[in-house]
Amino acid sequence: MSASDRSETKAANTPIYPIVNFPFYSSSMDGLRISHDTSAFEVPATLDAGGRLTVACVAQALAMMDTHGLVLLTGLLSDAEADAGLALMQQTIADPDRARSAFASETDNHYVRRDFCSLPSSLEVKGFAAMLAQRLEGVIGEYCGRTRPVLEIATFTSYFGSSHQYIHRDPAGVISMFAAVEDVAPEQGGTVFVPGTHQYGGAEYAHGGAAYGLMELFRRRANARIFRHNLAKLWRMRRSSEAALAPGEFRDRVFSTKWDQHQPNLLRFLTGKNSQFSLHHLGPRTLWQLLRRGEALDALFQPVQAAPRKGTVILYRSDLLHAGPDNRTQRPRRFFGMSIARDHLAPKYWHDGYSPHPTLLADPLTFGDLLAAAPLKTPQPAEAAAG
Ligand SMILES: [Fe+2]
Repeated sequence: MSASDRSETKAANTPIYPIVNFPFYSSSMDGLRISHDTSAFEVPATLDAGGRLTVACVAQALAMMDTHGLVLLTGLLSDAEADAGLALMQQTIADPDRARSAFASETDNHYVRRDFCSLPSSLEVKGFAAMLAQRLEGVIGEYCGRTRPVLEIATFTSYFGSSHQYIHRDPAGVISMFAAVEDVAPEQGGTVFVPGTHQYGGAEYAHGGAAYGLMELFRRRANARIFRHNLAKLWRMRRSSEAALAPGEFRDRVFSTKWDQHQPNLLRFLTGKNSQFSLHHLGPRTLWQLLRRGEALDALFQPVQAAPRKGTVILYRSDLLHAGPDNRTQRPRRFFGMSIARDHLAPKYWHDGYSPHPTLLADPLTFGDLLAAAPLKTPQPAEAAAG
């Protein structure tokens, strides 16, 4: 399959969240433009005889990671491999005793707007993770040594009515992966990334030495729009039969005192209790800077929403600005995810941003363990046809 066939390209630079097919669209989000054209960040996966990315493919992927902070490796998994990954995820999602992730949005998790849960370290899950790690060794190995821990193996599902996450950075010093085990449509909420906002050595000297200040200004402006979008959407959901709110859901998402970084929670916004976005982030100096430099931010930072096809694997540096959008369809959006440390991580810092399954905590895995483990065997097309 050619690169152009595999391209995730959609209509370029479309306004965020078109009104069409989106009953909870908030026109106040219209100022934040997000491109759906990810072709500049894609590398078609080509494998050598050993089933690993070729040297040329690794070089291309590393150049993307260095320049933009992310890469989309298209066609990395066959349909059968993606199906096997989805089956593993579904087993966990169907388990009433699954280990829910503590980060992201616990309120969305509670009201089944999202279902972020870690996967147990079963032979099959380890085999699927090993297959990905071995195939991607040339890229991941450039960042993560063999003794670095696997921080989390998880599944991320979002449902209709979820909140749009605020634009944020994950704990630094980690390489994270999303594997698309089925096609993801833009309306289902593929991940939004802000390419070039990763924090490598010397990055702060870009844009006349103002790079980090400008990135933060951009983040605050985007998050103000996301805040309004989430609030307006929730307000409309009160009268909607399509995504009816559960008893207490509106109160919990808008006025709860519980920790939750990604809800349009007015109480925590006003009292400055949300570290991602609160009134504290909109002081007079910030407002003045936004007035003065707001237009320039659009030229400097151009967010892109990845809506990957089945078999695509996204790798990104955890210090890249990104967000998980809301799912605006009735079809659940699912990703397989895995994160591997690049450096020593303090346990508290680790557990703030990642949710390892109890079986992973009891029996830790390193990147080297995954490279040495037996990869999951999936039926090849000929075998599948015969069987
Ligand atoms: Fe994140």
